[in-house]
Amino acid sequence: MKFQYSALLALAASAYAAPPTQSIKEVARQASAGCSSAVTIDASTNPFKKYTLHPNTFYRKEVEAAVAAITDSSLAASAAKVADVGSFLWIDTIANIAKVEPAIADVPCTNILGLVIYDLPGRDCAAKASNGELKVGEIDKYKSQYIDPIVTLLKAHPNTAFALLIEPDSLPNLVTNADLTTCKDSASGYEEGVAYALKSLNLPNVVMYIDAGHGGWLGWDANLKPGAQGLAKVYKAAGSPKQVRGFSTNTAGWNAWDQSPGEFSTASDAKYNKCQNEKIYVDTFAPLLKAAGMPNHAIIDTGRNAVTGLRKEWGDWCNVAGAGFGVRPTADTGDELADAFVWIKPGGESDGTSDSSATRYDSFCGKDDAFKPSPEAGTWNQAYFEALVKNAKPAF
Ligand code: GLC
Repeated sequence: MKFQYSALLALAASAYAAPPTQSIKEVARQASAGCSSAVTIDASTNPFKKYTLHPNTFYRKEVEAAVAAITDSSLAASAAKVADVGSFLWIDTIANIAKVEPAIADVPCTNILGLVIYDLPGRDCAAKASNGELKVGEIDKYKSQYIDPIVTLLKAHPNTAFALLIEPDSLPNLVTNADLTTCKDSASGYEEGVAYALKSLNLPNVVMYIDAGHGGWLGWDANLKPGAQGLAKVYKAAGSPKQVRGFSTNTAGWNAWDQSPGEFSTASDAKYNKCQNEKIYVDTFAPLLKAAGMPNHAIIDTGRNAVTGLRKEWGDWCNVAGAGFGVRPTADTGDELADAFVWIKPGGESDGTSDSSATRYDSFCGKDDAFKPSPEAGTWNQAYFEALVKNAKPAF
């Protein structure tokens, strides 16, 4: 992990330093940063109709480095195009708050910068691969050393638009994994932390979506209503912040958007889950959220959902072998409740290590359908990235 942090900091520093090798394109991108006046996002309308999800500079650099390591020139040419796809930047540690400022530098007024807020105490309570730096109980540290500095940064850049995904898989875990000691211990910190994030980040230039897992998670009959109520409870505890637009799906686990019949619809337990594809899930979950008193528009991660028929079980989430990049970010979803298809998980960054001796080894990353070898969560997996490019639909 030490290596990971230092590598990331070096990356952050290089973005500040404007090395002599900086391309003309890059200089042009930076010159186009921000709007000429303060941005106000109307969260009662779809922000992705107005703004394009920004291809952030960190993912661009990861992709460019990956392309340089590809010898097959036609694959390299396809892979190079991934750098221009909009995707979210993960702020998964306090140290990585340092990435925000350089990431803002090249966001033009037409674009919105996507950030994932992901550092709750006792993070990833039902798995091991993404266990975070803050321990259960370190809620004050989460507030003062993680959320507050991000708020300061976003306030300091009123002319830039931000889309935030708040804490992937945290509230869904409280619905379905409440019986695990780790999730029981994390529960109050998750609720307090998410409410604090929503309240504090409620700025005019920000729009927020709270993570709601995916159809194979909260889409089960027994989970739908408690799921919607769980999100709405925290939203209300935050004072019903105006800049919350709804929920986000398909990042912690994923499905095809509208494949019918759905991938797992012949499974013996399928009768207990009507949300057999992500569109049905969004359309089913949204009214329940509304009934529970929360705004209910969705963004859906299509970063890795191009290929189906790969998983042995619906819940298999770790580095699914054979996955491909999916539909590029767009506000043309054909569904009024779905604001946009977006790329949230940066394709090529691992979901978790397959090294069974590692502290954060999760058995899901050792399953037959998981790609191996895979490095620690969040670190680059070149072979996996190349496969995502090869399996992309639409093709690059
Ligand atoms: C995982 C990792 C996290 C990383 C994210 C995006 O959840 O735990 O560190 O930033 O994926 O790749």
